[in-house]
Amino acid sequence: MTEYPPRIEIVGNADAVAERAAAIVGIQLRNRRPITLGLATGATMTPLYARLVAATRAGLISFHAASSFNLDEYVGVAPRSPGSFHAYMQEHLFRHVDMPAERAQIPDGMVNDVASEAARYEAQIAAAGGIDLLLLGIGTNGHIGFNEPGSDFASRTREIRLDEATRTANAGSFLDLTSVPRRAITMGIATILDAKRILLIATGPEKAAAVAAAIEGPIGTDCPASALRLHGNVDVLCDESAAAALVNRPHTNDRRRA
Ligand code: F6R
Repeated sequence: MTEYPPRIEIVGNADAVAERAAAIVGIQLRNRRPITLGLATGATMTPLYARLVAATRAGLISFHAASSFNLDEYVGVAPRSPGSFHAYMQEHLFRHVDMPAERAQIPDGMVNDVASEAARYEAQIAAAGGIDLLLLGIGTNGHIGFNEPGSDFASRTREIRLDEATRTANAGSFLDLTSVPRRAITMGIATILDAKRILLIATGPEKAAAVAAAIEGPIGTDCPASALRLHGNVDVLCDESAAAALVNRPHTNDRRRA
């Protein structure tokens, strides 16, 4: 098992993370070549998407040559329902940018046969030539996508049972904790590791332990994000509070790369 340390960049706060991440994504979009993005939802991504929307409106970037695949979706939550990741993506990105709607792909959590949907999604990603740049957040339990601790590093897109910690963290999008879905469909760890480049962003003190475990802890299924150290083209962008538990702090400015 060869380990590749990720490039780590630490900036002051969540705003600075969003700005830096938007610059990295923006450079890729400004190339105007077709690009396939992998997209995450969640609170960490919201300020990044706001910046990408603002840059699109200002004519600085365009999504016209982009396609996207979201990491995950709840099982049994209708796309129009406000807690769905379909709704999140519409609200925060898709309806504000110029990416053709048919090129924005999200797993369908409403199908009867989730295994077939998972296989279809994998085939679609492969048919698109794979993901060029995959954006990831990280759960407080070290999950990436909805690959909860224990997820096999060889896993592909599949149905997964959500940890209680994840359901609690995501309860804000639902009426109450009992309304939070128990199951989701997620790209697998192997699907994630197939992406050509990965950008993980983490903000806030509640992510500090997970970030340290991912970067400095043992590589193993207890911390799904530790699998990123097997990839070789990963940037980890944190604010100071999310980086607070790292023992070996990087020389931030030497590691900048777009
Ligand atoms: C969401 C996803 C999750 C989140 C993670 C962090 O599509 O894949 O892995 O990135 O749960 O969520 P926030 O940013 O809300 O803390």
